[in-house]
Amino acid sequence: MKQSQWSSRLGYILAAAGSAVGLGAIWKFPYVTAANGGGAFLLVFLLFSFTLGVAVLMGETLLGSLTRRGVVGAFDELMGKRWRWVGTMGLLCSLLIFSFYSVVGGWTLGYTGMALAGSLQHGDGAALTARFNDYVGDPLWPVLTHLLFAALTWWFVQGGVQQGVERTLRWMMPALFIMILLLVAFGLTLPNAMAGVRHFLMPDFSKLGMSGVLDAMGLAFFSLSIGLGIHTTYGAYLPSSEGVGRSSLWVVLLASLIAVLAGLMIFPVLAATGIDPASGPGLTFMTMPAVFQQLPFGQGLAVVFFALLVVAALSSSISLLEHLQCFVCESLGWSRRAACSLITALVMAGGVPVSLSFGPWAQVTLFGKNIFELLDFITSNLMMPLFGLALTLLLGWQLGLRALPQGLAPHWRALLMGCWRWLAPLLIGGILVRGLL
Ligand code: PHE
Ligand code: NA
Repeated sequence: MKQSQWSSRLGYILAAAGSAVGLGAIWKFPYVTAANGGGAFLLVFLLFSFTLGVAVLMGETLLGSLTRRGVVGAFDELMGKRWRWVGTMGLLCSLLIFSFYSVVGGWTLGYTGMALAGSLQHGDGAALTARFNDYVGDPLWPVLTHLLFAALTWWFVQGGVQQGVERTLRWMMPALFIMILLLVAFGLTLPNAMAGVRHFLMPDFSKLGMSGVLDAMGLAFFSLSIGLGIHTTYGAYLPSSEGVGRSSLWVVLLASLIAVLAGLMIFPVLAATGIDPASGPGLTFMTMPAVFQQLPFGQGLAVVFFALLVVAALSSSISLLEHLQCFVCESLGWSRRAACSLITALVMAGGVPVSLSFGPWAQVTLFGKNIFELLDFITSNLMMPLFGLALTLLLGWQLGLRALPQGLAPHWRALLMGCWRWLAPLLIGGILVRGLL
C-alpha cells in the first residue's frame, strides 16, 4: 500500500496534530473538566497525555512506518494474526466515534449559520442555554447538519491525502490558535473571571473520584486520537521512522496546549454569565456567544470562531475517514472513492439516532446513559484504552527493540521501552479495572 505519502514532514505533523486538535479540546475537554471539578482533573489529564499518551501515539505511528500498512495489516505482519482483533476493534471504534463526532461537527455548522444570521448576538446566559437545547432538541436541523458535515468530510477525503488534508491545515491551525489566544485575553477581563480561572486551575482532589480518573484517561485517548490506529495509517504514509519521537511529542504538546487554552477561554465566562458548569456537551456553544455579544465586531468574530471550529472538527473527521477508507481499500481492493462512500453512508445512518438522543430520543437509555453518552463512554473509556493496553504490551514484550524508531538516543530508547513494558500497561490496566468496578 504505497499509494499515498506526505509531501513533507511538516505536512505530516500538521495532519497528525490536525487529527488530535479538534472538538475534543474545544468542545469536550471544558465540559468534562467542569463536570469533574476542575483543577485536579486537568492535572491528571495532562499527566496521562504526556506519559501513556506519548507512548501509545509513538507506538501506533511506528507500527505504520515499519510496515507501510494500515492497522489490521500492521498487526497481522508484526504481531501475528492472533492479534488482528485489536486492529479490528480500532476500526470499529473509529466508525462509532465518527458517528457521534459528525453530529457535533454538525452543531458547529449550525452555529456558524446562527452566527451569520445574527441570532446569537442577544440573550443572557439562560437564553443561550435554552437556544442550545432548542437547537439540539429539534428533530430535523441537527440531523441535516450532521449529514452535511459527513458529506463535507467525504468530499475532502475522496480527493486524496495531500490535496485534501495538508493544504487545508496549513492556514487553519495558526488561525485557530490566534483566535483562541485573543478570546482568552478578552475573557480574562470579564467580571469575576478569576473565579473561573481558579475553578479551572486549582486542584481539589476530593472532587476527583476513580470514575473521574477513568474519564481523564478516556479524554486523553480521545483528544490525541489514539487507540484506534489512526496514527498507524498516518505513519504508513511517512518515508521513515526517523523523528517519530519528536513529532509525537509535538502532537501531544499542541493538543494539550489547545485544551488548556480552551479551558482558559471558557471557565472565566461561566463565572461571568452564571451558565452552569455542569451543562454538559453544550457548554462551549452556550458560553462563547456571550463573549461575542460584548466584543466589537462580535457577530463577525462569532462567524469566524464557529467556522474555525468547523475546520478543526473536519481535520479530525478527515483522519477518521482516511483511516477507515485505508482499510477498505487495502482489504477489499476498492477504489478510494467507493470506500469513502460506503463508510460515509454508514456514518450518516449511525449519526441519526445519536442526534435524536439529544431530542426526541433522549429517554432511550441503557445503564442510565442515552445513546450519545453510551457511545462516548464505550469508545473513550473502554475500547480506546483496551487498544492502547494491547498495543503497548505487544510492543514492549513481543516486538521489543525491533519496534524502536531509527536514530533515537539510548536513554530515550530505554525510557520508551519502559513505558511500553511497564508504565503504560500498568496505568491503563489499573485504571480500567478500578474505574469500571
Ligand atoms: N482528537 C479529536 C478531537 O479532539 C477527536 C478524534 C478522536 C479524532 C479519535 C479522531 C479519532 O477532536
Ligand atoms: Na482537528
